[in-house]
Amino acid sequence: MNTQNWLQESYIRAYKFAAIAHQNQKMPGSELPYIMHLSFVSMEIIAALSVEKVADGDLAVQCAILHDTIEDTNTTVEQIQAEFGEAVAQGVLALTKDASLAKHLQMADSLTRIKQQPPEIWMVKLADRITNLQAPPHYWNQEKIVKYREEAMQIYAALKDASPFLVTRLASKIADYKAFINSENVEPS
Ligand code: NI
Repeated sequence: MNTQNWLQESYIRAYKFAAIAHQNQKMPGSELPYIMHLSFVSMEIIAALSVEKVADGDLAVQCAILHDTIEDTNTTVEQIQAEFGEAVAQGVLALTKDASLAKHLQMADSLTRIKQQPPEIWMVKLADRITNLQAPPHYWNQEKIVKYREEAMQIYAALKDASPFLVTRLASKIADYKAFINSENVEPS
C-alpha cells in the first residue's frame, strides 16, 4: 500500500473555498449544484493517488477542487495564491482557458500551459475530462458532441504520460462517448 500523501484538511479547505465561489452555480443543463462536478474531479484524482505515486498529493487534490474558480467565478489568481500558495495558484491558472483567444485556440493554448506545470496538474485536466464525458447536456447538437470527443482525444494525446491510471480511464470514457454520436449524421472518423 502507498502512504497517503494528501491531507483531508487540505481537501476540506479547498472544498469550502470552491463551494462559496461556485455558490448558486448549476451544472450545465441541470438544476444540480456545480460543486458536484468538483467532487467528481477530485474523486477521480483521489482514486489515482491511491495507486500512483506523485510528488505532491495536496497539489493535485486542491487544484482538482479549485480548477474552475478563475474561469467560472469572480475569484482571482491572487486570492488563490494567498489562500493556497503559488503552486496551486499557477496550476489553477494553467487550467483556466484564456478567454481573450479565439474559442478554437483555447484548448491548445491551455494544454501548452498545463504541460509547463508539474504532472499533478496534467492529472487534473485528465480527471476533468473523464468527469465531463458523461451524457452531454440535452441542448448540445451532434457537431458539438463530436467536437467534444475530438477535444478529449487531443487532451489524451497531449497528457498521456502523466498517469497510466487516469489515461486508461479516459480512453474508456472516450470509447463510451461514441454512444452519444448518431452515426447517421456524422462522417466516420
Ligand atoms: Ni471542470
